[in-house]
Amino acid sequence: MSFSIAHFLAERRDGAVHRREDLLEFARLAGSKELPDYQISAWLMAAYLNPLSLEETVGLTLGMAESGERLDLTGLPKPWVDKHSTGGVGDKTTLVLLPLLAACGLTMVKMSGRGLGITGGTIDKLASIPGFRTDLSSQEMIEQASRIGLALTGQTPALAPADGVLYGLRDVTQTVASIPLIVSSILSKKIAGGAEVIGLDVKCGSGAFMPTAEAAEELATWLSKVGKACGLSLHVTITDMDQPLGQAAGNLIEVLEAFRVLSRQALSPNEKRFETLCIELATETLVAVGQHDAKAVVEKALDDGKALEKALEWTSAQGATTSPLDLTLAEPRQTITATQSGFAQQVSALRVGEAVLEMGGGRKKKTDVIDLTVGVVTLVQVGDKIEAGQPLFHLHGNPDQCAAAAAVLQDAVTVVQAPVEPRPLILKRL
Ligand code: URA
Repeated sequence: MSFSIAHFLAERRDGAVHRREDLLEFARLAGSKELPDYQISAWLMAAYLNPLSLEETVGLTLGMAESGERLDLTGLPKPWVDKHSTGGVGDKTTLVLLPLLAACGLTMVKMSGRGLGITGGTIDKLASIPGFRTDLSSQEMIEQASRIGLALTGQTPALAPADGVLYGLRDVTQTVASIPLIVSSILSKKIAGGAEVIGLDVKCGSGAFMPTAEAAEELATWLSKVGKACGLSLHVTITDMDQPLGQAAGNLIEVLEAFRVLSRQALSPNEKRFETLCIELATETLVAVGQHDAKAVVEKALDDGKALEKALEWTSAQGATTSPLDLTLAEPRQTITATQSGFAQQVSALRVGEAVLEMGGGRKKKTDVIDLTVGVVTLVQVGDKIEAGQPLFHLHGNPDQCAAAAAVLQDAVTVVQAPVEPRPLILKRL
């Protein structure tokens, strides 16, 4: 039986099982814009209400991955590796992991997104480096990765175009939050990106897409199962996003923090927590590709300056006209202090993300133009002993931006009288 969109819609509406070939054809037609938005939207709502099975999600994922080009990394040294984070506040891990793992000998190719809402996007962070290009073509990606071992580009319509169409419609039809649709969206782009080994960081907490441990674990399990069924070597870690990652949240400010880690500068306790995550995730990826003494290899690449060297080679290869090491940020304009003494029970990633958004450092809607220079520095962590009057946050922005952020950060830190045990940074490995 050939594909019929009417039959396909009725199947989803009635909770029947789609055939693999129909899912592939649906994704192909969506990607080539041969289906009207109203029929795709109707299917998305039906798929939200009658979620796809694991098997069906594999079909949709493969169909979306095949809906456009696939980066052909043939000829580049193996392993071909990618990393992905489901996104959080202050999550600048890509900026460290890409050059760090490339310095350890892996070929790193990555497509990254722009930020929307409280979670920032790597493409915006990198846009704060003057001249840095985030629009490399497939050809340029392959050429650069073969020359220096890493390349990163923004989402291009050439790769997994069905995801561009489906995601755009999910965004306006309240159908984003469906695990099979999220999983197929993330993994189809990973498959189209050409890598074979993928480190996936599922963030869990107030500053993440998945606020609860149960939700994060469900997403992580689906990603792992569907990824493996699609032939990927997938390594999933669930990590904490209840408090911001590192001390910096914003765009330029996060690039500066990443380069402080890469250049082994003296770090604040919050920056150390970010560094720890980078080292853990890099180590896991190296273990996954069979590297012995993986942690020592990662530490050495940082200690002997190879990771920093690779990062500078990368930014320069992608057009940076200024070294990130020469970039600076204006002095903070406002400091928020603690009103009482005790112990920090909560340092809300959600509030910090909202504060950056209010300052104009993030997008409320897709078309917003963002201010790359604003940001929030978080000076405390969950479990810290707090003295009244102690600085909790520095705000970088103009007076209006700082006032907007300060209003949001009023209740960002909860102080209690009994000592608090922070939850671990790495919550689970799958
Ligand atoms: N990130 C994606 O790429 N797709 C989703 O659906 C959600 C998060």
